[in-house]
This record gives sequence, structure tokens and C-alpha cells, in this order.
Amino acid sequence: MSDETMTIIIDGVEVAAQPGQTILEAADQAGVYIPRLCYHPDLPPGGHCRLCTVKVNGRPASSCTFPASDGLVIENDTEELNAFRRTIVEMLFVEGNHHCPSCEASGDCELQAMAYRLGLLTPTLPYLRQPRQLDASHKDVYIDRDRCILCGRCSRASKVEDGKTVFGFEGRGIHKRIAVDGAKGLSDTDMSVADEAARICPTGCLRVKREGYRVPVGQRTYDHTPIGSDIEHKKATR
Ligand code: SF4
Ligand code: SF4
Ligand code: FES
Repeated sequence: MSDETMTIIIDGVEVAAQPGQTILEAADQAGVYIPRLCYHPDLPPGGHCRLCTVKVNGRPASSCTFPASDGLVIENDTEELNAFRRTIVEMLFVEGNHHCPSCEASGDCELQAMAYRLGLLTPTLPYLRQPRQLDASHKDVYIDRDRCILCGRCSRASKVEDGKTVFGFEGRGIHKRIAVDGAKGLSDTDMSVADEAARICPTGCLRVKREGYRVPVGQRTYDHTPIGSDIEHKKATR
């Protein structure tokens, strides 16, 4: 532990933080799970989804972008914040077209797993059933926009990890969509199945072809353990 180690307090428990860490990174290191969807440890934070919102000294802030500093008092696992997170997840479900039982990502999907973790079983908001375009033009990778949650992981991975600019966003508000930089779709870009972006999507939106159901249902990432339990396991084994 460095001399510069700081202490932050999350839900009344002291947690060590290193200079340069965000609140979410310090929490992860200490085995405290803060829900998140757009964050990925290999990428710079995007700040898109707001699932990771905590209260910092009484004020809401996204923990994946907020720098840890000595003495911060943070609320995370409270009913108020979890209700807020549940509403965000519910909105993602009703804005997209999600049919989990027939989705290849079921069991590996972070959105689905987050809904289970937060206790969202049946949406209370009306489904919007918006038309969303499928792009199966690429020989190895497809985009099923019905399942996109606009987290931006693909776009950040393409830029930061792959040195490309395959993905971006187009449209605004409810019409915002993931876009590609080829006029004829994904086949018109320099996307490769070997790109990091091809395997970083948290949902069933951006998927590699011919890999469907390679891992049987029942043996998938979240079939038996809730999302976040890998992080919480660190605390349990210390
Ligand atoms: S992407 Fe996830 S939430 Fe959406 S249908 Fe597939 S498994 Fe369900
Ligand atoms: S395609 Fe996947 S990774 Fe990209 S923004 Fe949509 S949900 Fe996120
Ligand atoms: S995980 Fe922090 S805003 Fe999405």
C-alpha cells in the first residue's frame, strides 16, 4: 500500500483508495460492488449509463468518473439508489426490444443480470416497441440494435484498443442509435472479428457470428451467480 493511500467511506465502511483511482475502482479493489453497465476495466470510463451513481458527501455522482479523495463519504447500497438504478434498467428494457428467452446472450447478458440483481422482474413502464435496424452485412459480426443499450463500450474499444473508428452514435433522445462508419453497414468498415470491440458488448447486440449457443444455457456467466459476485468475492476471501 502506498504512502499516499487515502481512505474513503462507503456505506459506513472505510475503504483504501490510491491516488488516481475513481470511487468505483477503489470500491472494486476493496470488494465492494457498485452496479455498472457502461464501465469496462480495460477502457476509459464513458459515463453513459448512470447505473454507477452513488451519493458523494450527499450529492449524486457517477462513481466510474468521480476521483476518489481522502475522506469522501459515499452512499452506495441504499434503497433510494437501487430504486433509481432499477428505473434506469427498466427504461433500457422498454426502450429496446428485449426477448430474453430467445436471445443468444441470455445468461451472459449484463443488462439481464442487472435486472435480476436489482429485483426487476416485470417492467411497469409501457414498451415503446421502436423499429431498430439489424445489420448482418459483415461476414463475422452482426449488430442487433433491438438489444443495444447505448453504453458506448464498442465505440471506446474500437478507438482505444483497436485503433479504429468503427462505431459511433447517431440521432438524439429516443432516436439515438449505435452507428458504424460505413455507408453500407458493418461490412463497409474495417471491423475484424479479432477486434476487442467484437467481444465487449454487455448485451446481445454486437455479437460474433457462428458462436451461438456454444456455451449451453445453464452454464453461462450469470446462470448461478449474480452479477457483481466476482467483486464481492474479493471481500469475502480477505
Ligand atoms: S440483450 Fe440481454 S436483456 Fe436483451 S434480450 Fe438479450 S438477454 Fe435479454
Ligand atoms: S452495441 Fe453493445 S457495446 Fe455498443 S453501444 Fe450497443 S450495447 Fe453498448
Ligand atoms: S458505469 Fe458509470 S456511468 Fe455507466
